[in-house]
Amino acid sequence: LAKVAVLVSGSGTNMAALLYASRLPDSPYEIVLVASNDPNAGGLSLAEAEGIPTFALSHKGMSREEHDQAMDAAVRSSGAEYIALAGYMRILSDEMVTRWEGRMLNIHPSLLPKYKGLKTHERALEAGDEFCGTSVHLVTSELDGGQVLGQAPVAIMDSDTPETLAYRVKLAEHQLYPRVLADFVSRPFDSGWLLERVRALAMALPEAE
Ligand code: GAR
Repeated sequence: LAKVAVLVSGSGTNMAALLYASRLPDSPYEIVLVASNDPNAGGLSLAEAEGIPTFALSHKGMSREEHDQAMDAAVRSSGAEYIALAGYMRILSDEMVTRWEGRMLNIHPSLLPKYKGLKTHERALEAGDEFCGTSVHLVTSELDGGQVLGQAPVAIMDSDTPETLAYRVKLAEHQLYPRVLADFVSRPFDSGWLLERVRALAMALPEAE
């Protein structure tokens, strides 16, 4: 089974969806750690109750780099091969993104590339959109800009508020994220990606004298 660490900042309903899907027969992944930047995150208590190892470290009073290094150390000592961000409301340092490039997924409440960043439901309502939705994507240094791996649309009703819409988007997220994660960890080894990384590293090396 592929080992996955889930990072949360809030209620952790997406983490719960990933966890419960991982316990169904034929799941190709297991969750080995739930970590948070908020020691009071609801997702942490749920993970604890479900017997999943947890790690909490507030980012307050620390630099982004220091905090990410500590999170990264916890993730690596859990043996995780992948990170799934699930409502993790911190922008990651370049170092963290580079270290996990190609192995870190995020779920975002909009149909990317529309509405990157925050307040996605409000913006979709204000724009009078017919649909909003959710996207699972690879994490790169561009905020909400990495390759989209899967999306699910959600119709907007006249009666919707940002809260009612966010609730339905989460229902769609809970279906989408476990499926995309399962497909992702089951994909054949991507030698093209590795080749690109080796080329980029070789380019960055100083010329031999
Ligand atoms: C989810 O809707 C997720 O898409 C969103 O936060 C919510 C977390 O809910 N993520 C972002 O906005 C990331 N920029 P949860 O804690 O119940 O899973």
